[in-house]
Amino acid sequence: MASYIIFLLTISFTFNIAKAQSNITRGRSLTPTGATTSWMSPSGLYAFGFYPQTVGYAIGIYIAGIPERTVVWTANRDTLPLSKNANLSFTTDGRLVIVEETTGQRIDITDSTTAGASLASMQDSGNFVLYSSDGTTVVWQSFDHPTDTLLVGQKLVADQTLYSSVSETNQSIGIFMLSMQTDGHLVQYPNVGTPTTPESAYWASGTFGRGPNVTLNLDSDGFLYLLENSTFFIKNLTQGGYPREKAIYRMKIDVDGIFRLYHHDLRNMSKNGSVAWESSTDKCAGKGLCGGNGYCVEMDDAAQCRCLPGFEFVNRESRSLGCQRNYSTIESCKAPDAGNSFYMMTVNNIAQWDNAPYAIPKASTQEECSSSCLNDCICEAALFTGRECRLQKLPLRFMEVKDSESNVGLIKVYASSITNGSDPTNPSIQVKKEEQIEILVTGVSLISFSVLILLFSGVVVYRAKVWAYRKISEHVNVQLLEDVGPRAFSYVELEGITNGFKEELGRGSFGIVYKGKIESLNKVVAVKKLKEELAQEGEREFQTEMKVIRRTNHRNLTMLLGYCCEGPKRLLVIEYMTKGSLADILFEPKESRKTCWEERIKMAVDIARGIQYLHEECETVIIHCDIKPQNILMDEYGCAKISDFGLAKLLEHDQTKTYTLIRGTRGYVAPEWYKKLPITAKVDVYSFGIVLFEILCCRRSVDSSLPVEEAILEEWVYECYEADQVWKLADDKDVDKRKLEQMIKIGLWCIQEDPSLRPSMKKVLLMLEGTVKIPVPPNPASFLSVV
Ligand SMILES: *[C@@H]1O[C@H](CO)[C@@H](O)[C@H](O)[C@H]1NC(C)=O
Ligand SMILES: *[C@@H]1O[C@H](CO)[C@@H](O)[C@H](O)[C@H]1NC(C)=O
Ligand SMILES: *[C@@H]1O[C@H](CO)[C@@H](O)[C@H](O)[C@H]1NC(C)=O
Ligand SMILES: *[C@@H]1O[C@H](CO)[C@@H](O)[C@H](O)[C@H]1NC(C)=O
Ligand SMILES: *[C@@H]1O[C@H](CO)[C@@H](O)[C@H](O)[C@H]1NC(C)=O
Ligand SMILES: *[C@@H]1O[C@H](CO)[C@@H](O)[C@H](O)[C@H]1NC(C)=O
Ligand SMILES: *[C@@H]1O[C@H](CO)[C@@H](O)[C@H](O)[C@H]1NC(C)=O
Ligand SMILES: *[C@@H]1O[C@H](CO)[C@@H](O)[C@H](O)[C@H]1NC(C)=O
Ligand SMILES: *[C@@H]1O[C@H](CO)[C@@H](O)[C@H](O)[C@H]1NC(C)=O
Ligand SMILES: *[C@@H]1O[C@H](CO)[C@@H](O)[C@H](O)[C@H]1NC(C)=O
Repeated sequence: MASYIIFLLTISFTFNIAKAQSNITRGRSLTPTGATTSWMSPSGLYAFGFYPQTVGYAIGIYIAGIPERTVVWTANRDTLPLSKNANLSFTTDGRLVIVEETTGQRIDITDSTTAGASLASMQDSGNFVLYSSDGTTVVWQSFDHPTDTLLVGQKLVADQTLYSSVSETNQSIGIFMLSMQTDGHLVQYPNVGTPTTPESAYWASGTFGRGPNVTLNLDSDGFLYLLENSTFFIKNLTQGGYPREKAIYRMKIDVDGIFRLYHHDLRNMSKNGSVAWESSTDKCAGKGLCGGNGYCVEMDDAAQCRCLPGFEFVNRESRSLGCQRNYSTIESCKAPDAGNSFYMMTVNNIAQWDNAPYAIPKASTQEECSSSCLNDCICEAALFTGRECRLQKLPLRFMEVKDSESNVGLIKVYASSITNGSDPTNPSIQVKKEEQIEILVTGVSLISFSVLILLFSGVVVYRAKVWAYRKISEHVNVQLLEDVGPRAFSYVELEGITNGFKEELGRGSFGIVYKGKIESLNKVVAVKKLKEELAQEGEREFQTEMKVIRRTNHRNLTMLLGYCCEGPKRLLVIEYMTKGSLADILFEPKESRKTCWEERIKMAVDIARGIQYLHEECETVIIHCDIKPQNILMDEYGCAKISDFGLAKLLEHDQTKTYTLIRGTRGYVAPEWYKKLPITAKVDVYSFGIVLFEILCCRRSVDSSLPVEEAILEEWVYECYEADQVWKLADDKDVDKRKLEQMIKIGLWCIQEDPSLRPSMKKVLLMLEGTVKIPVPPNPASFLSVV
């Protein structure tokens, strides 16, 4: 009881409150400045009502029983702030409504489903509840609508997300989120419009694949854990066991994106809350804390935001808005002015930024990388990793500087003079971390700069004649296409190339492919246009495809020639394949079939080579995830090339497996996808096995028009193989029976239920080429029970 009195004493200094009460009846109201600003819980620990912000007021639940006002829930976070003339009422028809008396604006806190609520109550747990007229049925509760805090007894269930606040004093939705996903994974992402893909996550519980019955819970002793089916502990974030008496715990996703467990000691009122646990000790862990073109440095145990050289904060007071500069290097490059020059400035130890580079020219030193960027008008920055030189456009996001990182950021700046040794626009970096910023004006870059000036004065002259200008820019394309990989096209250019998207080549779930021609190169291309209405899903595919394709260069993979990202428009320019897809070839009626057995064997080898390259010869392991005949294209020489990397998965250097949502096409996906087991490169081996059977038998893997025992190809194949009747499978005249049996054996190894039994793609290739002996395969499904 004594402590309740202390609560009341403390709060009466700061707030004008009414007597503690638990039952609120219809017709009651609150105003920010009137006699009643809030309704208290019975003990006075929590209050529901108005509280002042730096500007105006907000309505929410706060801990009133401690000296610092600690907000745990806020109503209508995105309609803040409220004026002093706002009025909150529990209406006579049972809703919670805010009315701005001066403007007449009406804001509903609860939706129409609460109509009929007859009693409201601020409870000592911190939950504000509306009850139906029988006084027992809960029709609405704040615990079901979490904002940035989880209280003891509250659950974060599947599909619920906590969003950080803009700042400690502004509870509007901020730039981080913590999501309890329906796949059982608790994950943190930036909330800045980036897709919620594993690549953009910055923290995860590792409970992927547990399904929709996982909840995040907090107990009264500070035990924070994930529970499945309300019964099974699947992950303990804290061990709990903190003192329960006179203490409260709350978990909050803070403004910096880290979520923390706070402990408040109610016995000692002069003590503030303390952090009992936090999701990360790296203060810069929150991806995007410093906004576009800004980077985060941990200093004096705090995260500090800095701008890249040449940039200034958009708003010094809210640094997460990022940094900008008052000119564009691209524009300046097109129309250079005599007094100014371009320089590359460096930022050392920078963590990799997330944007896909638009090109990766060959460069073995930092100087070469710098000059590649200086030489390219559209280059705004480059990341030199020691092995790769990634040319970038702005904005650069998710950057962090820390000692463990070894990449060098090279930033193009355009200024009249920086020879006096200080960064003209951002002197603070220079002062604080001198070793990080060096001015790089090497002989190489000076020479290349003069070349650049020459080139662009040329462009300016030609610009008067549009056709001539076109010619130059297309001349530049030739180089880009062949030397440094894909280049950016404008939408208008692509409209021209495809003749207004006239000739359709094919359709996929994410878009349409059109035929086009780059006149100057006399090159026929395929332009893949993603559906705009699928912007979000499509964006993920688009980014993945770009990411994968720019890392690859192999004769059995289609080549990306360019791309376009303008507003919601996403297009890819790919090599055109004259002979269509493998599906067209395999599944055409037998009478018109033109490919012979030998050609089909060669196709299988081509595909295996392409996959083997993706798995073993790229910088990172690339799992295609959607190997099927529709995604294998044939060029005019009958060479098979793998395309469509939209579903591919990249594994990091030492990573060999991953958990992810099911990707791929029914009939070709490996069984581990369905079992939510870790995904390895072996999923592609499985799909390859199925495709191999289709190639051998010239039929679809599932064909319900056939007799039931033949309908599922892989089962039918094993049946024939076991019965020593493989001749039933391929009836072409030219089939080499011995070879057919070998191929079948390879396929059966590939489709083993147990991924570890499947050979690597390299081994498959050796078997296809006849270099190694092919052992007798077991029944593909025989390990079903073991897995
Ligand atoms: C709080 O942040 C939001 C979003 O950034 C902004 O629109 C609003 O004006 C801010 N409110 C106050 C009171 O500063
Ligand atoms: C607030 O609104 C309620 C219901 O509309 C009304 O009864 C009450 O008088 C208003 N309070 C003030 C201070 O205007
Ligand atoms: C609040 O309302 C409930 C249900 O009508 C009733 O059981 C309870 O006694 C009331 N509490 C107070 C303090 O009036
Ligand atoms: C989730 O829980 C419900 C009810 O207990 C149960 O019917 C359902 O099968 C569970 N789903 C999963 C995937 O665990
Ligand atoms: C939860 O329930 C589902 C369906 O009832 C079951 O499949 C799953 O194994 C259960 N989870 C645990 C951890 O037992
Ligand atoms: C998690 O906590 C529960 C309850 O204290 C305990 O039974 C379980 O063993 C813990 N699990 C781990 C992995 O520590
Ligand atoms: C209360 O906390 C303050 C600050 O931590 C400390 O100085 C003081 O000794 C504490 N008082 C008691 C009675 O524990
Ligand atoms: C408690 O927090 C308030 C506001 O954040 C601060 O002014 C005060 O110094 C803190 N007190 C202690 C003992 O840390
Ligand atoms: C950009 O800002 C710099 C420094 O504030 C100033 O010197 C320069 O004139 C500005 N340039 C333009 C184009 O406004
Ligand atoms: C260097 O240049 C900056 C910006 O032009 C200027 O503010 C500064 O005073 C100069 N410093 C010296 C030492 O000349």
